[in-house]
Formats: sequence, structure tokens, C-alpha cells
Amino acid sequence: MNKLSDVLLSTPGENSTPIVLVLTEKFEDWQADLSEGERAWLGRQSFTAKPGQSAWLEQNGSARVICGWDGKDNLATLGHLPMSLPEGDYHLESPVGELQVLGWAMGSYQFNRYKTAKRKPARLFAELDESTRHVADAVALGRDLINTPAEDMKPSHLAEQIATMAETFNADLQVHTGDELLDLGARTIHTVGRAAEAPPVLADLTWGDADHPKITLVGKGVTFDSGGLDIKPGAGMRLMKKDMGGAAIAIGLAHLIMATQLPVRLRLLIPAAENAISGNAFRPGDVISTYKGLTVEIDNTDAEGRLLLCDALAMASEDKPDLIVDFATLTGAARVAVGTEISAMFSTSDEVAQALQSHGELTDDAVWRLPIHEDYEHMIKSNIADVLNCAASGFAGATTAALFLKKFVSDADWVHFDIMAFNTRARPGRPEGGEPMGLRAVYHYIAERYGPGE
Ligand code: BES
Ligand code: MN
Ligand code: ZN
Repeated sequence: MNKLSDVLLSTPGENSTPIVLVLTEKFEDWQADLSEGERAWLGRQSFTAKPGQSAWLEQNGSARVICGWDGKDNLATLGHLPMSLPEGDYHLESPVGELQVLGWAMGSYQFNRYKTAKRKPARLFAELDESTRHVADAVALGRDLINTPAEDMKPSHLAEQIATMAETFNADLQVHTGDELLDLGARTIHTVGRAAEAPPVLADLTWGDADHPKITLVGKGVTFDSGGLDIKPGAGMRLMKKDMGGAAIAIGLAHLIMATQLPVRLRLLIPAAENAISGNAFRPGDVISTYKGLTVEIDNTDAEGRLLLCDALAMASEDKPDLIVDFATLTGAARVAVGTEISAMFSTSDEVAQALQSHGELTDDAVWRLPIHEDYEHMIKSNIADVLNCAASGFAGATTAALFLKKFVSDADWVHFDIMAFNTRARPGRPEGGEPMGLRAVYHYIAERYGPGE
């Protein structure tokens, strides 16, 4: 597993190269101090101090890297450098922001499980908060889990990951596997996963002082989404190894909360299953009785995520936590609404939603709220069961999914994230591939709301 914090040096390297950030709009002024030769040299490298640009400058026998800057503290400022600068150690001459350092670490990520790395990332010396290292490592953990193909990321692998984490942080863990889910009453989780060779799993981890405020994290762990009998076309299935992205985010966030020892009582609930096709697959028209007791009529076997989540959310509600946060790669409709790079968020609390949206901005982890519009509930009415798992019309598809989930939540403020969990294009600090979207925004919100204070 990747440890991104390894590229962040806590003592300066011996042959460390300085990096200078130059504001785009101040470039002309800044250049005035250079010799004509040096100006020409930068010109030959087409350097105009725009964000994303960097150039080498040799002055009096010592080299510096000049890096264009738009004045912001975000992941993009330095995120392109660890894989574009030559291997070695660097430090900043100008003061450095927390997100800039994190962008460097996040930009150094490579998924090397199946392919040898061509090079090492460049390393950065920066004085930084210990928690930034933990954030970087949580991001790497989430990315590794998402990037791992379904063949090597079965429900049992997710459970093993959680077991390792439970051991590290001395947490309690219960894992319910296969038919044990039926004894527990978690019939929807079992039903989604029963056609796959690898049995479905529910992992239930608890950590921290019982007197601290209770927070429960839930993550959709569909290790591969074929669509089930309502099978997806090839293009729609291609990326579906990432359908456990919600679980990866919840696991990464739990790791981070425990590593930084936030004063909360944490519960992590991960329902995991592969949505596969076989003779015993569940069918459109079936009715399943849920953990909460409500019955669900299956309209579409491809709306499987909400079936995993509904039992987990009902369980999460039982011990009346302060806050329940779930993460799920739940609907294509959320992607139509806000695209792949913004996390769609729903909440029963205006206050929490507003705070989360601003923490999204503060952490360069974009979050946008969508409505839980109760008037659309008629869209998920079933003639023969308490609720239908998916509306006949695709309009407001992310909202009707949230309305379905809300029926299973009680006695807690609730936040639901409908996320992509995957960078479909490379950006500085965000290489193409798995991305635990929303993790950092939620962590900072929780740290601020429940943290020990300064
Ligand atoms: N995992 C998918 C949703 C998804 C697809 C998220 C692509 C991100 C990118 C989910 O299980 C699904 O198949 N949803 C269906 C729901 C529909 C049948 C109501 C969808 O969005 O098409
Ligand atoms: Mn699906
Ligand atoms: Zn899915």
C-alpha cells in the first residue's frame, strides 16, 4: 500500500533545490531583477509564470526551480511537480500553504501494484502539521482500494483491510459474512450479493471513548457492479471496479479520524457485495424485506447500492449517533447534475450542509448540496411493497435515491454523499484513477466540530 507522506521530508535534504513561487501578475516586476541572459533563458522555456508552469534557472552556479502561481493555496499549486521535476529533494523559498504541501504529496501518487514504477517522485521538505501526513496517507489508502481491480478487491478484501485497521487502532470489529447476514436480518445486503461467488459481507467497527459524541460512517462497497440481471452495457460497466468507492472513502476517513485521535466515538459500517449474475440472482419484481422491516420491491437490479445502504443505515440509526455520513457511487444522475469532479451531497440538516459546503471550498474538495425533495416521493411508490428501489423516470434520479435512503435513517443528523470516486482526467495533485472525493472536506468538518480545539 502507498504511503504518500514518504515524499514529505521533515528534515531538509542535503542537496535540496529551492523552488520559488512567482505570481503570474508579478512576473514582469520579478523579472526586472534578472540579467538579460536569465530572462532570455526563461523565455526559451516559454515560462510566463502561469499556474502549472515551471522552469529551471541557474544563477551564480546554483540552480532554482521557478514555478508559476495564481496566488491561491490549493492542490494545483505544486501538484504537478513531484512527477515532472527530476528525482531528488526540494524545498520552497517562499512560505508554503497546507494545501500546497498536500498537493505535492497527492501528486506523487502512483498505483504500482501491477506495474513497476518508472521513476520515484521528487520529495519536498516542508514544515507541516502532523495531520497533513495522515491526510495524505488516508488519500493514498482510498485510491489504492479503488484502483484495485474487482478480482483482487472482493468483499472479503475490504473486510481484511478493515480488520488490519481495527488491529492498528485497537478498535472492536464484527464481520458478518454470507448467510450470517440472514440471521442478522440484513436481507437486502445478502440479496444483492448472493449471486456472486464471493459472499457479501457487513463489517461493523467501533472505536474510541464511549462518552465522546457518536459519529457513524457508512460506505457503499459494491466490489463490482455488472448491473445484475438488468445488465449494464459494456461502456457503463468498464469502470465499475470503483463501485466500492464509497466504502474506500469511509475506510480512509475512519483511518484518518483514528490516526489523528479525534475525540469521537466512531462507528464504521461497510456493507460489501458484488452485483453479479447467476441462477440465484435477484430479479426485477422481487420483494425483499429489509433490516428495518420495510419491504422493497425491486424495479431494477442495477439500483443495488441503495439496497446495501438501506440495511446499514437502519443499523447505524439504532444507537442514535450525533451524525451519520454515508458515501456512495450511487447514481449516474448525480454525475449528470454536478459532473464527475464535484461531490453531490444531501443532508437533513441545513447547518451541517452549509458547513460541509464551505469546508469543501476550504479544502479544495468540491461539495455541492442537492435537495431531498419530499414531493418526489410518489416516484418510488410500489403497488405491492412499502417502497420501490428505483423510480420509473430518471428525472431527479439522485434525489429519488436519497429519498429512498432517508426512509431508513432516524434519530440522527444525516449526510449522504453521491460521488464519482474517480478522476476521469489527470489534474495537478489528482492523477487519473481512484479518488476518495469528499474525504478531506468531511474530515475537516468533523475535526472542527468535534475536535479538541486549538
Ligand atoms: N454504481 C452505479 C452508479 C454510477 C454509475 C455511479 C456510473 C457513477 C458512475 C449504480 O449502482 C447504478 O447502476 N445506478 C443506476 C440507477 C438506476 C438503475 C436507477 C444509474 O444511475 O443508472
Ligand atoms: Mn448499479
Ligand atoms: Zn452501483
